[in-house]
Amino acid sequence: MIIGIIGAMVEEITPLLERLKHYESKNIGGNTYYEVKIGGHTIYIAYSKIGKVHAALTCSTMILHFQCEKIIFSGVAGGLSPDLHIGDLILGSKLCQYDVDITAFGHPLGFIPESRVFIESDETLNAIAHRVAQNQHINLKEGIIASGDLFIADSGKKQWIIQHFGASAVEMEGAAVAVVCDLLKVPFCILRSISDSADGKADVNFDEFLESSAKRSADFVMMMIDQILEKK
Ligand code: ADE
Repeated sequence: MIIGIIGAMVEEITPLLERLKHYESKNIGGNTYYEVKIGGHTIYIAYSKIGKVHAALTCSTMILHFQCEKIIFSGVAGGLSPDLHIGDLILGSKLCQYDVDITAFGHPLGFIPESRVFIESDETLNAIAHRVAQNQHINLKEGIIASGDLFIADSGKKQWIIQHFGASAVEMEGAAVAVVCDLLKVPFCILRSISDSADGKADVNFDEFLESSAKRSADFVMMMIDQILEKK
């Protein structure tokens, strides 16, 4: 099997590379793809750089160039739901682009013609995540993740996203991965650990917790990989 793991920032994939150690690297389109062989399987790991456009390029390259059959996103997010705290893990049940607005033409917020407001992640990958969480006694939440090309650090903007999309967490790449995987028919899941609460303290909290939360997400993804490759 060939699996792709994407992070947005180098901090989000460093814990994976530190664990896997032996890899080759290939450069395409300004990104480095780390190739790891495990048994007869191959894992590609890359950080895309921040934002939906970069994530879409990395995800497309993983699928169309490296033939990845499953995509897992690992990284950090801003918590919107009051029951999400720094370090908590959330799986995106469905993804949306809160910064898409062609309401001037009568479309709903977040809607692009010939697409959908919400794109569901893969049930099988999500079930694997829940099994890992249960086995490890980890509290894994699941909810809508909203993506946009903005770092949310404002309670008003945060409330607006909750109100219009019912989202539990906000980040800047998940929906791009969802759109690409949905169109190319590749199963995907989006895992995030909370680094901040997308409020007035988000910038300070993000800087403080990026590394630890990114590691929490990456460690969880490694356990998912073990399950998927049935190495247990
Ligand atoms: N990723 C982590 N925290 C975030 C925030 N507050 N807004 C957007 N993306 C994030």
